[in-house]
Amino acid sequence: MAEVILESVYKRFGNVTAVEDFSLHIKDEEFMVFVGPSGCGKTTTLRMIAGLEEISDGTLRIGDRVVNDVPPKDRDIAMVFQNYALYPHMNVHQNMSFGLRLRKTPKAEIERRVGDAAKLLQIDHLLDRRPRELSGGQRQRVALGRAIVREPKVFLMDEPLSNLDAKLRVEMRASISKLHRRLGVTTVYVTHDQVEAMTMGTRIVVMKDGLIQQVDSPINLYDKPVNRFVAGFMGSPAMNFLIGTAQNGRITSPQFDLKPGGELSQKLVSQSGKKVYVGIRPENLGLRGATSIPEGDNIIKAQIEVVEPLGAETHILASVGGDQTLVARIDAHARVQAGDSVELLADLGFLHAFDLEHEHNLRFV
Ligand SMILES: Nc1ncnc2c1ncn2[C@@H]1O[C@H](COP(=O)(O)OP(=O)(O)O)[C@@H](O)[C@H]1O
Ligand SMILES: [Mg+2]
Repeated sequence: MAEVILESVYKRFGNVTAVEDFSLHIKDEEFMVFVGPSGCGKTTTLRMIAGLEEISDGTLRIGDRVVNDVPPKDRDIAMVFQNYALYPHMNVHQNMSFGLRLRKTPKAEIERRVGDAAKLLQIDHLLDRRPRELSGGQRQRVALGRAIVREPKVFLMDEPLSNLDAKLRVEMRASISKLHRRLGVTTVYVTHDQVEAMTMGTRIVVMKDGLIQQVDSPINLYDKPVNRFVAGFMGSPAMNFLIGTAQNGRITSPQFDLKPGGELSQKLVSQSGKKVYVGIRPENLGLRGATSIPEGDNIIKAQIEVVEPLGAETHILASVGGDQTLVARIDAHARVQAGDSVELLADLGFLHAFDLEHEHNLRFV
């Protein structure tokens, strides 16, 4: 078991800085997720922890040891990749035990570890099969098994579920979470999928352009995003951003005049006269007359463009003043159709506002 500590870590490829001033303290037994769009530096950071990529600057510790110059095989980590990387000519047992055999682990110990891991992953009936005789989900379990038998201090996983279909991904997501609870091994898990990040992480690092944007628990990232990027990245459908003008603690435009709750309203006073983004999540909007959101200083006029009934709820895509759009999650039984002019009510306790220049959440400025 071990902590992983990165202090001001940089990775430069020529004149491209892939990872910049990355500082993070991953606690023992934590399930830490790195999330962000493609190219933001997730894999590079993970590969630096693994030792597969040299660190350009900064310090990396695993446990109480600085490992900047320690080769991968001596770091006591195990990595799981998106493409499984199984040996096609070996059966499941051989794939899982390969690393242990290289290390000359005693045979009885190998049998015990492979047996335990196979049982845990429910692949104990597949030990004689070759990878091509397995489904995608089974192959991914073998790849996990190969990591587990190493009994490492840290698991590193790079988009391990991306090659699976949607249903299997949900299943494997739960399996990996359960596995983590069982084994309690410090895990760093990379994904571009915010749902995976939210559902699996004890904490999440949101990255963009090689820079950490925010490190927090899933619910704090959702409720208290520090900037517009984080606010827009976490949540589906994404948070709506409408441009309005700050005025006397309100945010106004020809289509709306919103007065956010106390604290934010005060922060807006310093922005008076300036344009700001108002951020509203789709679930914090309702149809006037058909919502439990109380009315008062919170009306947005909109015209419905698309209605998407999903059964449990309905999403509407609506135009606000012709040049802006928003998505609202409304009651599945609301009677609305494309073309309708409607009034939406915003739940003022959940409003966010961001300045146009830095896109910081004004609540925290
Ligand atoms: N070996 C490399 N040489 C040059 N640039 C690289 C190399 N590996 C990654 N990069 C660049 O570093 C940035 C981060 O890449 P990566 O860590 O793979 O992102 P992610 O995993 O978040 O999609 C990208 O701009 C990518 O093009
Ligand atoms: Mg990657």
